[in-house]
Amino acid sequence: MNVATTVSRAPASTAGAAAASAGAMAVAASAQHRCAALALSGVTVRISGLVALNDVHFEVQAGQIVSLIGPNGAGKTTAFNVISGYMRPSAGRIELFGENIVGRSPHEIAARGLVRSFQRTSVFNQSTVLDNILIALHMQGRCGLLPALLRLPSFRREERALREQAGQILDFLGLSRRAGELAANLSYGEQRLLGVGIALAAKPRLLLLDEPAAGLNPSETQAFKDMIRRIGDSGVTVLLVEHDMHMVMSISDYIVVLNQGQRIADGPPAHIQQHPEVIRAYLGSGLKRAQA
Ligand SMILES: Nc1ncnc2c1ncn2[C@@H]1O[C@H](COP(=O)(O)OP(=O)(O)O)[C@@H](O)[C@H]1O
Ligand SMILES: [Mg+2]
Repeated sequence: MNVATTVSRAPASTAGAAAASAGAMAVAASAQHRCAALALSGVTVRISGLVALNDVHFEVQAGQIVSLIGPNGAGKTTAFNVISGYMRPSAGRIELFGENIVGRSPHEIAARGLVRSFQRTSVFNQSTVLDNILIALHMQGRCGLLPALLRLPSFRREERALREQAGQILDFLGLSRRAGELAANLSYGEQRLLGVGIALAAKPRLLLLDEPAAGLNPSETQAFKDMIRRIGDSGVTVLLVEHDMHMVMSISDYIVVLNQGQRIADGPPAHIQQHPEVIRAYLGSGLKRAQA
């Protein structure tokens, strides 16, 4: 039982409106205090003698867009691998919405709301754009196989609801007019958008994006940036690994910098841009480009 919540709720249920609102504020304050979507503490990953992550601590606050940056080999992908359960850390604790997830399988972690964006490989090229989203939604569906095979009313109701949701996701991505197109015929940028759409179909509370803008041209990058903002605005927490410093500096609420497996800085973009060690280790000329 959560004692703090119980105690602060007590006056709300027994006293008048003022006390109720004070109680609600106390609950909100205590919720705010512990509303990290993700918290890594002391996370170390050793891979065959090499320390890929060394005693890493950072938090991702719920509702924020947080970027994880650093030079190649810094440990960014390793961090994503341990967070999403594909690798087990050698030491440390990883809390997802307050629950330790170390030792949980990727499937169990996904079921708790953490979704990692899929890239081209997860797109079914010979299916339409709409079907790609529907397949992803079906994997979340409540209906069992039998109602689906017999096309029972419960299945047909769910099917209608899923089609509606798929339409909303395609609208959100700006891909509605491509709904009937085979995924194979999409441009590279559109395929990347579809990959994010498939991730959104899993209804993430925390979405991990690993270099979503890699290989995109400037206008596709802009479209992607706008979409990540809209995902953030819709209430989904986003953790992003990205090399495009324009994108990182303009959309991040908070930035964590890794170098050689260690966190060397964290803070809002303005702080990171001024941080001498970050400039030395990573930003250098990239920062000048980002500010240009
Ligand atoms: N599966 C692996 N086997 C061996 N070494 C690995 C493996 N994954 C990552 N590493 C090493 O861990 C370090 C961090 O890599 P990585 O997390 O991929 O960095 P980044 O994504 O920041 O470029 C690097 O030195 C890399 O060579
Ligand atoms: Mg990487």
